Amino acid sequence: MSKVTLDKHALYLASVQDPISDVSRVSKIYISIFNKEALSFREDFSGTFALSCCWVQSSSERTAISIDIDEETIEYGTKNYLSNLSSSEQARILPVVGNAITTTDSVDIIATFNFSYCLLHERKTLLKYFKHAYKSLNDDGMLILDIFGGSDSEIPEVQERDIDNHDHIAPFLFEFERKDFNPITRIANYGIHFKYESGEEIIDAFTYEFRMWSITEIRDLLDEAGFSRVKVFWEDCDSEGFGNGEFYETESEENSVNWNAYIVGIK
Ligand SMILES: C[S@@+](CC[C@H](N)C(=O)[O-])C[C@H]1O[C@@H](n2cnc3c(N)ncnc32)[C@H](O)[C@@H]1O
Repeated sequence: MSKVTLDKHALYLASVQDPISDVSRVSKIYISIFNKEALSFREDFSGTFALSCCWVQSSSERTAISIDIDEETIEYGTKNYLSNLSSSEQARILPVVGNAITTTDSVDIIATFNFSYCLLHERKTLLKYFKHAYKSLNDDGMLILDIFGGSDSEIPEVQERDIDNHDHIAPFLFEFERKDFNPITRIANYGIHFKYESGEEIIDAFTYEFRMWSITEIRDLLDEAGFSRVKVFWEDCDSEGFGNGEFYETESEENSVNWNAYIVGIK
């Protein structure tokens, strides 16, 4: 039975995250580059590390390190997601409360999703992060980041979506609000709100102050950090012009109102 919940992480998983599809897309991109399966994975700025949990579930040989600076968030993932895994799956994940700007044991893939690197506002800090990521990759390794943009991405707006297909959570409205965008610093403030028809709601369940880096700036920084090649995978559209979750490699696109892409730095 579905019910109203004010658990912000559960609402976020239901509306923002799609870890099973993410694992499948990341795995396919790795195979397309290295012609073999990726096994080891580091999820940076991992939040509740739902993605890492799906990663280790996708193969008995897969391992994950999940790094987030916020203790409460890692604790939530440990209590609500990690505990649902088998003991063999649990043994293959290492959740870490700490700074993602660090060198760890080498992995095949480092994934930094939901634009988390945009929390790093200074060029020198993002470069430092990329250098640590480079050092933490196997020779056949890649760093994958997601990015969004488009002509509407620099103006205040609220994007809304009805989330009405969840087994356990009553239908609710998901809102992603861009409160402001400063074209001089390229800093934008965002808020995520969850609203039920009954009036119960969480305003600013999550807030982010993102620097809106361009693909070109990130490419240049990855190059400077030592990555040998940088590829861009662009999200395809359905017939109504909405992103359809399929990504293809490209070097030239028309700008649109809103677009999504992955940037992949290859060691
Ligand atoms: C935009 S959320 C993304 C969460 C998750 N990656 C996702 O896809 O939903 C950003 C996360 O980064 C964490 N964070 C911020 N600065 C960090 C840092 N320096 N190192 C590790 N985690 C950090 C925050 O605690 C937050 O959970």
